[in-house]
Amino acid sequence: MGSNHPVQVIAVTGGKGGIGKTNVSVNLSLALADMGRRVVLLDADLGLANVDVLLGLKPKATLADVLDGKCDLRDVMVTGPGGIRIVPAASGAASMVSLSPQQHAGLIQAFSEIGDNIDVLVVDTAAGIGDSVVSFVRAAQEALIVVCDEPTSITDAYALIKLLNRDHGMTRFRVLANMVGTPQEGRMVFAKLTKVTDRFLDVALQYVGAVPFDESVRKSVQKQRAVFEAFPRSKASLAIRAIAQKVDAWPLPANPRGHLEFFVERLVQPTGTDL
Ligand SMILES: Nc1ncnc2c1ncn2[C@@H]1O[C@H](COP(=O)(O)OP(=O)(O)OP(=O)(O)O)[C@@H](O)[C@H]1O
Ligand SMILES: [Mg+2]
Repeated sequence: MGSNHPVQVIAVTGGKGGIGKTNVSVNLSLALADMGRRVVLLDADLGLANVDVLLGLKPKATLADVLDGKCDLRDVMVTGPGGIRIVPAASGAASMVSLSPQQHAGLIQAFSEIGDNIDVLVVDTAAGIGDSVVSFVRAAQEALIVVCDEPTSITDAYALIKLLNRDHGMTRFRVLANMVGTPQEGRMVFAKLTKVTDRFLDVALQYVGAVPFDESVRKSVQKQRAVFEAFPRSKASLAIRAIAQKVDAWPLPANPRGHLEFFVERLVQPTGTDL
């Protein structure tokens, strides 16, 4: 592949808060980096900055400074564990919570300047189904929906998928079950979700796998470290590793989809090239 290869962009989302989106984003990033991929992790929870807190990083500049025109995206990236590069959000910055669609678009386009040395961009989104979540998920190639076995998680995930499908034409979603007791429980959560989507929406959901409920995750969060790094042999870390291997085998985007997306310039191939 030439230097202009496509970048795999995965938005981690799910509707409900506190179901493990940030932990999945961080640990999936680390697992992919461990496999030799060059990973950038974007904290797109713009007002509440989850990732740097989870990793105990203290960034000097954040996305708020990029939006203010004070610096470039390159300047705000910090190197985290495993060599992953993190684009931190601004914690407690109210101005970041209510960005306009144009500002979201500006941020997404700003990534073009850093596309050269990236294989994968993981985007950790905020809870809910607000504009920022929709902007970032649409601009990604893969929407990874995190769910857990709670009725509110299933209904929130359904609401998000419905919005993305009905209003934005998205039809393809990946699903990860988090905090499950057994692998069977993960499959069951997926079945509960597909039962409603199959009935009411024209979408295709693909199951990626499950991450077990594991005390090591909580312990790592308390230490402000990623479980994949702090407890690499834990059940959660092994599950994440298996999921990363699947993610790595997903096909890369070939053609632009005709709306705003990350690294779109890398998808515009010279005519006649069959990828
Ligand atoms: N697999 C797991 N096993 C045990 N605990 C977990 C697991 N995944 C997440 N947790 C716990 O759930 C908490 C919330 O996780 P996390 O911050 O990743 O969720 P989130 O969906 O990003 O939340 P928010 O919507 O607030 O951004 C963590 O502090 C952690 O203690
Ligand atoms: Mg989070």
